[in-house]
Amino acid sequence: MTIHVYRFPDIVSLSDAAAACVIEHARRAIAGNGRLTMALSGGTTPRLLYERLARTDFEMDGLWQSTHVFWGDERCVGPEHKESNYGLARDALLSKVALPTANIHRIFGEAPNADREAARYETELRRFFYLHEPDTAGRFPIFDLVLLGIGADGHTASLFPGDSALQEHTRWAVAVRAPKGYAPGRRITLTLPVINNARTILFLVSGKGKTPVMQDILSDSETAREQYTAARVTARERVVWFVDTQTVGI
Ligand code: 6PG
Repeated sequence: MTIHVYRFPDIVSLSDAAAACVIEHARRAIAGNGRLTMALSGGTTPRLLYERLARTDFEMDGLWQSTHVFWGDERCVGPEHKESNYGLARDALLSKVALPTANIHRIFGEAPNADREAARYETELRRFFYLHEPDTAGRFPIFDLVLLGIGADGHTASLFPGDSALQEHTRWAVAVRAPKGYAPGRRITLTLPVINNARTILFLVSGKGKTPVMQDILSDSETAREQYTAARVTARERVVWFVDTQTVGI
């Protein structure tokens, strides 16, 4: 597994490069095994990337038919809620491209019971990956590409430092409660073994307050791996960091 760090002067250039990166992965995955499986990130950083990908001149046309989108995590709110990760992707991207509805594998944040919804999402993932990749039956799914962000505390997806969800080695998705200050608190997230089984991880890092955690993580220190979830993310092939130096400062 190799780690690559790319720095960009602002979120616009970072998002353009990220769109090109997604297209490259889509082309390669679809040429290789007929489909792209991509887990989308939440938060605010990926919005511009999604808007870029929705623009036809970004050449994803023709690739959407063979693309399946999933989510790395979701807040337990309805799709119309401003904090919905699905709502963000739907409005910025999915409602604007020819991606078949059947290829959208969302987490139902509006579900009344988060634990049951995490189990339902896992069942949907199992069905999908066993159908399309039967040789991985019984093992964790292999996403072609997982998009991730990072919080100032070093969380990624909705895996927060110190949370018992970080000890999960069997389930593919779990319900968690985010620490105070991260609303909405109730969330559903992929687990670390699933994330780390992806072929490629693409971190998009922009926003204030992330400098210290990024300095620690990029120093690849043991303490970073103990303290920060994002420092424990690996991949089968590559972990790629796209950093907006304008806001992150490094
Ligand atoms: C979420 C995300 C989370 C996010 C980071 C960064 O649902 O909140 O998955 O991991 O990527 O918190 O969020 P920003 O992009 O808003 O800084």
